[in-house]
Amino acid sequence: MNTPNTGATQYPAKTSAETYIDADSHTKLYQQSLASPDEFWAEQAKRVDWIRTPSIIKNCSFAKDNLSIRWFEDGQLNASVNCLDRHLETHGEQLALIWEPDSEADAVRKFTYRQLHNAVCKLANGLKSLGVAKGDVVTLYMPMIPEATIAMLACARIGAVHSVVFGGFSPEALAGRIQDGQSKLVITADAGKRGGKRVNLKANVDEAITLCQPACVENVLVVNHCGETIALNAPRDIDYQTLVRNQSSECPAEIMDAEDPLFILYTSGSTGKPKGAVHTTGGYLVYTSLSHHWVFDYNPGEIYWCMADIGWITGHSYAVYGPLSNAATTVMYEGVPNFPDAGRLARIIDKHQVNILYTAPTVIRALMACSDEALANTSRQSLRLLGTAGEPINPEAWTWFYEKFGHSQCPILDTWWQTETGGMMITPLPGAIDLKPGSATLPFFGINAVLVDNDGQLLTGAAEGNLLISDSWPAQMRTIFGDHQRFIETYFSTFEGYYFSSDGARRDEDGYYWITGRVDDVLNVSGHRMGTAELESALAAHPLVAEAAVVGFPHSIKGEGIYAYITLTDKQAETETLRTELKQWLRKEIGPIAVADIIQWTDDLPKTRSGKIMRRILRKIAADDFDNLGDLSTLADPGVVARLIETHSNLK
Ligand code: WTA
Repeated sequence: MNTPNTGATQYPAKTSAETYIDADSHTKLYQQSLASPDEFWAEQAKRVDWIRTPSIIKNCSFAKDNLSIRWFEDGQLNASVNCLDRHLETHGEQLALIWEPDSEADAVRKFTYRQLHNAVCKLANGLKSLGVAKGDVVTLYMPMIPEATIAMLACARIGAVHSVVFGGFSPEALAGRIQDGQSKLVITADAGKRGGKRVNLKANVDEAITLCQPACVENVLVVNHCGETIALNAPRDIDYQTLVRNQSSECPAEIMDAEDPLFILYTSGSTGKPKGAVHTTGGYLVYTSLSHHWVFDYNPGEIYWCMADIGWITGHSYAVYGPLSNAATTVMYEGVPNFPDAGRLARIIDKHQVNILYTAPTVIRALMACSDEALANTSRQSLRLLGTAGEPINPEAWTWFYEKFGHSQCPILDTWWQTETGGMMITPLPGAIDLKPGSATLPFFGINAVLVDNDGQLLTGAAEGNLLISDSWPAQMRTIFGDHQRFIETYFSTFEGYYFSSDGARRDEDGYYWITGRVDDVLNVSGHRMGTAELESALAAHPLVAEAAVVGFPHSIKGEGIYAYITLTDKQAETETLRTELKQWLRKEIGPIAVADIIQWTDDLPKTRSGKIMRRILRKIAADDFDNLGDLSTLADPGVVARLIETHSNLK
């Protein structure tokens, strides 16, 4: 983000907030959080109900040979009790969940905290009756329906580890995740609805199970959501309603150690297959609860809507665990923001009188592109705060969102974080931190962000470099499921003694951070993380593809688009038909989020003499940035660059 530093502005905010803190108290508390982490976090841990209060607060070291990340380790608690039971006395009849269906013609569903508690207990008992026990991994492949939240909390209640796989992933991608977690149970629905279309989830699960060799899945629990007549393959497949109908609505919660795993969530890295990020119970809950409270300044009675799908970390931390632990009333939406037209998002806000909205830059850019339609016939006056996450927000989108969507009344909270971090890391706090459009502003309590150059030299003052975190925070992921060595190598080896985010950032003279994007080979397409290695091996699996190299390029709506350079085994096959077929192939292998925007045929790729593809050059060509290709002398065949540029230019 090359925006000039325009100075921080105190954007006017609507009043009503009781939890706002001013800038001075914020600075003091932030400094205390770094200087005395044990004291600070012992105090913050009180916002969670513990079965046994922790006496050991922080036991962490980022030393490569002595990596230890343990928080509140002698504490015991249960996440579902914190999200449900403890609210029953005071908030039992308050709404916990308002579900908005894909089609405006369908009925809204609502759950009070008591109703949600009942539903979770019934399912938890049902899961137990299927033999699911503490520590078992349960895969969820669900549409955005209340049963998805219920299933997550039911797993948490009995100590099962949920592994939610985004419903847009293909059977192949789902199979890889089921297999990695050795899940015995998959929870799914007959189908999901998105933008008026059906997504046949159960059929995908069936296919995924046939791909899991050796077989591990024993049961599939199916929610009848769309009323599709689907074949239930007895005794493996079980109807959700039938299972829960006669279960008791009381289910004692499993006592969990703070460091017992709560969930696994797969995310893409720059190499190899997706990594199962393991998050544990105590630290994760304290941190997501605290950050939800401070960043969204949630006041009792307010309506809070996080639009993220529960298949992503934002859905876990800020649609489920953070808000429900704070007894918030949440909105869950089944569909897409611009169906049946771009005005849908604003209509949902008016319909449910949403006060706090958490969304993604790609959604804002898509709506901004049809601004009149996006704002038509709605007031959006209920809004008080607007948040974004997942990718850099460009100042134009920020300004449109602030001025047009929020009537210049709602501060925009641009929150930087990652699947690995569990919760927000660099973020404004309403009232305490003035804003600059395009900047995620300052680190959250307890977060010591630093910048280093490529040699690991610490950069001070205004600077640009690799973004690292110098000490642990409670919601940090603890390991990669089944591969602790990979965890150490990925995050703690490049710059020893630090957690490496793989993002670049600029810090300005006010100490504000401006995230510049990934410095590794991970693409961020519409806020979805995709490893180039995954995309390339999927393309290379096609019989006609000899070699594929994938890079990102700037895209006005998606942030980044997918650009694939492909060498075929037979040059005669370079046709439009094959181009279309390869795009479909990629969707099938990975899922509908993997849309190759541009495929360029090439006989050769720019490689070093040792055979390594120089992606830097491919990225520049894809971005039409030919002037600054850097040193080409290390290429085995420097002539390849001119040929690539020529074909690229003819493509346009
Ligand atoms: C990017 C999503 C700029 C970043 C919560 C990070 C952002 C990756 C922001 C993690 C932001 C996230 N500004 N970039 N506010 N938030 N990112 O794991 O590149 O799906 O590394 O977590 O998204 O994506 P993930």
